[in-house]
Amino acid sequence: MTLPSAPYPALRLRRTRAHAWSRAMFAENRLHPSDLIWPLFVTEGSGVEEPISSLPGVSRWSVDLIVARAKEAAQAGIPCIALFPNTQAERRSDDGKEALNPDNLMCRAIRAIKDSVPEIGVLTDVALDPYTAHGQDGLVDDQGRIVNDATIEVLIGQSLNQAAAGADIIAPSDMMDGRVGLIRAALEENGHQDIQIMAYAAKYASAFYGPFRDAVGSRGLLKGDKKTYQMDPANSQEALREVALDIAEGADSVMVKPGLPYLDIVRAVKERFAVPVFAYQVSGEYAMIEAAAAAGAGDRDALVLETLLAFKRAGCTGVLTYHALHAARLLG
Ligand code: PBG
Repeated sequence: MTLPSAPYPALRLRRTRAHAWSRAMFAENRLHPSDLIWPLFVTEGSGVEEPISSLPGVSRWSVDLIVARAKEAAQAGIPCIALFPNTQAERRSDDGKEALNPDNLMCRAIRAIKDSVPEIGVLTDVALDPYTAHGQDGLVDDQGRIVNDATIEVLIGQSLNQAAAGADIIAPSDMMDGRVGLIRAALEENGHQDIQIMAYAAKYASAFYGPFRDAVGSRGLLKGDKKTYQMDPANSQEALREVALDIAEGADSVMVKPGLPYLDIVRAVKERFAVPVFAYQVSGEYAMIEAAAAAGAGDRDALVLETLLAFKRAGCTGVLTYHALHAARLLG
């Protein structure tokens, strides 16, 4: 008997792909409802649902209805929701002080959810853009610059405000330098040592955030861009520095954002650091998938599950996605 000199035909990788049972057995990665965090938009009123046209299938909900959404999420096995408020225009100001109001929309939503659905985690966004009249995430000086250290003072107040309302995970998305460490210290000093921080560590100045800005009502207000604080899409080494700093400052987990176009960053972070990494599949990515499905470019459910699985393959612990409820139900 002569042994083959080339791997083929002894090695045939199609063998393990030949049957559904075998494919299931050899799957290297799996998507589960507990991998998903569901972002939800809150608005004033009661019984209010406001569809967001640039984000088809996603609505803003008043506090009473957001509680019902949180219940559905928990029932579908989603471990955590992420809240974003659409602040009324008259409550927005240059200094974003509504972020510090213990009865602001965000705090009312946190309390209502924690009262009725205590089993679900609540992640709250820390940044000033839903509260500022200019739509920037930080305070702006008279020359139009975003002021780092003075902004952090407000972010600390915002974090403590959300913590007092019952937030489980504080997620600073503002990209000011040094904010994670100072927020961590303030949480410790105020008896909130068990509240997690998920740092938006590598957050890029992306063109994929448009529909989100419609959802929180900041798109029409924003002048200019966010390039002096959010990262340049050209950079990856810098993302590793951002992540290293946020870990050193006390982050429990780090986030890469946007998602799909930045999976190389997820992989690089995962290879370098022993830290849980989450990705945010952002509004523009969601809208692209919905548009592709509506145009007949692919099957919606298959597109959703394949893209979410790609996050797992890249090394993500979990994904923030507007498809979370739909995907959890498909998986469940
Ligand atoms: C702002 C914030 C943004 C998103 C989450 N938090 C937008 C921005 O930075 O302008 C985007 C999320 C999405 O597009 O789904 N602090």
